Amino acid sequence: MSVPPLQNKPCGGRYSDVVAAIGNTPLIELKRLSPKPGVRIWAKMESFNPTGSIKDRVARALIEDAEEKGAIRPGVTILEPTSGNTGIALAMIAKRKGYKLKVVMPDNVTQERTQLLKMYGAEIVYSPGNLGSNGAVAMAEEMAAGDDSYYMPYQYGNPANPNAHYNGTALEILDELDGQVDAFVAGLGTGGTLMGHARRFKEELGDRVTIVAAEPMQGEPVQGLRSLDDGYIPPIIDLSLLDRKIFVTNRDAVVWTRKLLDEESIFAGVSSGAIARIAVRIASEMDEGNVVFIVCDDGWKYLSSGVYTLPVDEVANLDSTVWW
Ligand SMILES: Cc1ncc(COP(=O)(O)O)c(C=O)c1O
Repeated sequence: MSVPPLQNKPCGGRYSDVVAAIGNTPLIELKRLSPKPGVRIWAKMESFNPTGSIKDRVARALIEDAEEKGAIRPGVTILEPTSGNTGIALAMIAKRKGYKLKVVMPDNVTQERTQLLKMYGAEIVYSPGNLGSNGAVAMAEEMAAGDDSYYMPYQYGNPANPNAHYNGTALEILDELDGQVDAFVAGLGTGGTLMGHARRFKEELGDRVTIVAAEPMQGEPVQGLRSLDDGYIPPIIDLSLLDRKIFVTNRDAVVWTRKLLDEESIFAGVSSGAIARIAVRIASEMDEGNVVFIVCDDGWKYLSSGVYTLPVDEVANLDSTVWW
């Protein structure tokens, strides 16, 4: 049989199962957001992962690390505190591999999140919504203490989390841009994305690359991100690897989530709007070069919040302590 040649290669590869297909996401130039012709802004589209977020990479790394350590034995349940994406990614992989998973998350998350977790067969334990992700962490720690039927991968303190980016996402970006990365912008949640990229980029490029964290203002939560001023600094974070930390408001996160959609047709979650806003600010301070930022997840889980359809001011006034 003669097959005509493909016009648009690469296609993304051929894999043994969906877990193996995690990663190798596209890098898309956002020309309409660039403030200057010589500065190119690139979105690393982690929303293209199987469950729609960057956390597929982390969940796979956490589970492979547990397998290597022999921590997932018969009768053991994986237990993880997570406000969403990591739980959904762990649930997908646990289902595929036949592992039991329990996630602890705030009780004010949206229906979509609960449904996605249940769809993949995870058990959910709710922590008090007003205590946010810190409350979920505390509850999971209490459950796991002294109970060896639980194994807690604990993404906040597990080097497998940043290593997923050090050995994956960061290498893909370097490869696509032939090592020409001048600024890298990501959000700060567990810190895994920033730490893994910062380590790899600093090793490969030294000080020519600027590593920038987008951090929500204290008391103004942006879904998926945390303020270090809230009193918990995840153990995997080494602040000395960050060149800059720039605050972003919840309103700006919403406005820029809408700009991504309206100007570039990128349907992303709210933290990606916050990160895009900082990426454009960094781009405006440069004369030339490549700015790479992370699109952490797609928008499906946030639809019911009205973030894409309500007037911006109405969205900005929504109770941002509710986990969309
Ligand atoms: C939507 C979203 N954005 C950003 C982040 C931050 O990533 P990291 O945990 O690697 O700091 C997360 C992590 O929880 C997330 O779920």
